[in-house]
Amino acid sequence: MVDSATDANPLPRHVAVIMDGNGRWARERGEDRVFGHAHGVESVRAMVRAAGELGVEFLTLYAFSTENWSRPQEEVNALMELLVRSLAGEVEELVSQGVRLRSIGALDSLPESCRRALHDVEERTADCTGLNLILALSYSGRWEITEAIKGIVQSGIKAEAIDEKGLRQFMCMPDVPDPELLIRTSGEQRLSNFLLWQLAYSELHFTPVMWPDFREDHFRAAIHEFRGRERRFGRTGEQMHHATNAGDS
Ligand code: IPE
Ligand code: IPE
Ligand code: MG
Repeated sequence: MVDSATDANPLPRHVAVIMDGNGRWARERGEDRVFGHAHGVESVRAMVRAAGELGVEFLTLYAFSTENWSRPQEEVNALMELLVRSLAGEVEELVSQGVRLRSIGALDSLPESCRRALHDVEERTADCTGLNLILALSYSGRWEITEAIKGIVQSGIKAEAIDEKGLRQFMCMPDVPDPELLIRTSGEQRLSNFLLWQLAYSELHFTPVMWPDFREDHFRAAIHEFRGRERRFGRTGEQMHHATNAGDS
């Protein structure tokens, strides 16, 4: 355990989460996969509350990937319906907690009912100044990078004028800092095309807990572990320790 007084890192400003394991959680209980998705909403609720209370500024949740369109149509439909219901059911609570909702992804490909529900909650929470909750829907990292490249070409910027900072302006959320921490539940250890650009230097936390079982304690444990990690950004361990000691004196 790391004592907070000696933590290597401050609280992450931005946490990204790959919410995985709903289907297996349901199957283990002899239920349909959709049962797991419905229970996953409870975990989202708990995470949003915990992130807000901790003072995390941005929480990005991978809710539906570009690749998820290839799931059985009934599951896709159920997920879309669940999204609409959850957005409508949670909006008052989001407003009361000061949570601002935003979404990233190929939103045009979502059913009209989802787009309307998203638009409605985004409008109603637009002035909220607490946690920024970002839902990734019909999203993939390669899609985002491809869109950014299209934007750059259309803008007519010359090749010599393009740099990383400029490229970022064409990504979905140029104003949002990169996630310091990525959490993936369910024991899978891969990125599955999530935030490929932004996760370049994130710390990765993999937990075997299935998403419908993931609660505040798991989240706090992930943050605790993150705070004790050494982030080097290409430098040596010795350089890092010199920097820390110099900062202390
Ligand atoms: C994550 O749970 C939810 C979505 C991808 C929408 P899964 O549905 O992937 O659950 P598993 O991985 O099959 O258990
Ligand atoms: C990633 O989970 C996408 C979301 C959590 C929305 P998947 O369950 O779809 O990922 P893979 O296909 O197992 O890598
Ligand atoms: Mg999965």
